[in-house]
Parts: sequence; C-alpha cells; structure tokens
Amino acid sequence: MWRIARRGQRPGSRADVLPSPNIWYHPDTYELENRAQDVDGDLWGALAQECPWTGKDVIDVGCGDGFHLPRFAETARSVLGVEPHEPLVRRAETRIAGMRSVRVLPGSAQDIPMPDASADVVHARTAYFFGPGCEPGLREVDRVLRPGGALAIVDLDVASEPYGRWMRADLPDYDPVAVDDFFERQGFRCRRVTTRWWFDSAESLAAVLRIEFSPGVADRAIEDVLRDAGSRGRRSAEAGFTVPVGYRLLVRVKPAGLVLPDHSSSAGSSVSISPSTA
Ligand SMILES: C[S@@+](CC[C@H](N)C(=O)[O-])C[C@H]1O[C@@H](n2cnc3c(N)ncnc32)[C@H](O)[C@@H]1O
Repeated sequence: MWRIARRGQRPGSRADVLPSPNIWYHPDTYELENRAQDVDGDLWGALAQECPWTGKDVIDVGCGDGFHLPRFAETARSVLGVEPHEPLVRRAETRIAGMRSVRVLPGSAQDIPMPDASADVVHARTAYFFGPGCEPGLREVDRVLRPGGALAIVDLDVASEPYGRWMRADLPDYDPVAVDDFFERQGFRCRRVTTRWWFDSAESLAAVLRIEFSPGVADRAIEDVLRDAGSRGRRSAEAGFTVPVGYRLLVRVKPAGLVLPDHSSSAGSSVSISPSTA
C-alpha cells in the first residue's frame, strides 16, 4: 500500500506548475478529448511493451483529473495519481472513488509525495512540464523509482501531420530538434507512435480543437478534418471524424546495478554494473 512521504510538506512551488488552460478551464471538454484519443490502443500497446506495469507500483505524474488511473489499476499492484491543481485532484478523487488500489495526492513532478525507491513505473502524459530545463523533476522521479524502474513521458509529436502542423502554427518558437536532443542527452530512448483520435460528431471534434488551439488555427484544423471526411464520402463522415495524431514515447530506465564513473569516455558519464555482470 502507498505511504505518504514527508507528511505535511506542501507540493512543489507554484513556480514549478505550468498552467494547463485546456484541462484547467475546460475539464469536461478535456474528458471528451481523452476519450477520443488513441482509439486503436497503439499508445497503450507501446507503453505496455516499453514499461510493463502488471503487478507493479505506478505513479501518474500530472494526472489531471485521473483519466488514465483506472486503466493502470486494471493490472497494477497500486496506482498513485499526483496533480498540483487542486480542482483536478478533487475530480480525480471522484473518478477513482471505491477503487481499492488507487489514490490521488496533491504534488508535482518536482515534489512527489512518496518515499525514495517506492515506484516501478512513473508515467507522465502530455506532460509539457517535462521539457528542456526539467532536470529537477527528472531527479525527483529518479528518487522515487526503484532500481530498474522506468519513467515514461508521453508527449505530442510536432513533426507528425496534420496535428503537428497545427501545433507549429501556434508554437512558432518550439524547436523539436532541441527537445529531442535534450531528452537524448538525459538518457531517454524515443519511440514515435502514430495514433488515431476519433470523434462521433463534428461538435465534439470542434469543441476539442478549440481548447487546444488559438481561434484561427482551430478554425483551420476543423476545416481540414471536415474536408478530409467529406472527400472520403458521406458514409465516412457519418461514421465519425478521425484525426491522425503522433506521439513521442520517451522512456528512461533507472539503472538496476551499481553505478560507477566511466573514466574511459566523456566526463560526467557513468556505467552501470548489473548484479549478473558485476
Ligand atoms: C495537459 S494536462 C494532462 C493531464 C493528464 N496527464 C491527462 O493525460 O489527462 C497536464 C497536467 O499537468 C499538470 N501540471 C502542470 N505543471 C505540473 C508540474 N510541475 N508537475 C506535475 N504536473 C503538472 C497540470 O495541472 C495538468 O493537469
């Protein structure tokens, strides 16, 4: 069972917390978005291959209102959602009410309310708070992971079309190469996953795109999707609206063995000696 570390300590300072206008101000529409995402299970499949959680202790950092907690709880030993925005903590608590092995606590990536070495998998989805400069959060995750445990960061892929094109229009300064370089230097492997978002109505599609993009970009995005559905014929439009969306699944495993400085290569690097090779 989960124990609460450093009881009474406040979650990470507000400076660490990045406002999330979509889910903070439009949680019901964000729920529609979460339901529309990954309808074919490609992302869940990749996650299960990269960091299996069956029988494990899982932390979902920046869990929002806890949409992904029940899915982990189907097979995990325990699941903890950590979220800094209090109204979302309350929504998440309502979602998981009555679920035996799941709980939610206020906290942040920089201050996870758990003891050292208490989790096997830390998951963070659309976790833009994990980007260049997020070293304090990465160190905190390392603290709570057991040796051999994994951090999985799931983020949108701005290089994937068409969703990436709309993102780039709103984020002209975002440098995907610099972001990839940052994570590579931090020891992450990156797997690109193409998924499908699916909406049963033009209204829900439009509502979701309007909380993700500025008004002009959202208009163009809605038009693109409706045109594409139209070009595939009336039958396909009646069958709903599909948006291809690419993700980057970034995974870093905490070394399971003794870590020694590696004097044979560049300064600051290290080698891990696992029990079988030590
Ligand atoms: C885009 S939402 C995604 C929510 C959830 N992961 C999901 O997929 O439904 C990003 C979440 O990160 C939270 N957040 C912002 N800054 C954070 C930080 N420093 N540490 C942890 N979570 C943070 C926000 O409050 C928000 O709930």
